[in-house]
Amino acid sequence: MTGVYSEKVMEHFRNPRNVGVIEDADGVGEVGNPVCGDIMKIYLRIENNRITDVKFQTFGCGAAIASSSMATELVKGKTLEEAWEISNRAVAEALEGLPPIKMHCSVLAEEAIHKAINEYRKKQGLEPWAEEHPHSHDDLECA
Ligand code: FES
Repeated sequence: MTGVYSEKVMEHFRNPRNVGVIEDADGVGEVGNPVCGDIMKIYLRIENNRITDVKFQTFGCGAAIASSSMATELVKGKTLEEAWEISNRAVAEALEGLPPIKMHCSVLAEEAIHKAINEYRKKQGLEPWAEEHPHSHDDLECA
């Protein structure tokens, strides 16, 4: 199994960053992949439009855990606008690639962050941003 994954994926899988829960988080996003049953939950602490803390819980495959770990590292310290722009491809690239059959696992991370940001926006009485996930897990096969 090791051969198909980059060193970076294996490293984040073995030693994931930002695992856990933020009590009273400002935004929480939970997404699931109906095919494999994997679930990802992301918690955001937001101060002055900036993500000051982030934690995740992922019940899923190794690629999903590595993607959550990397995605939380990428959004930490970013403004909401900057964090919104971080795509699943950026997460996969930061992981030095994912096998094609595992790309959908990184989509979960993008979706969970978008959900958490929009949950925060709704709580603030703001319009949620449009979520577009052209490579959504719904049309990708789960291995
Ligand atoms: S998220 Fe389902 S196999 Fe990776």
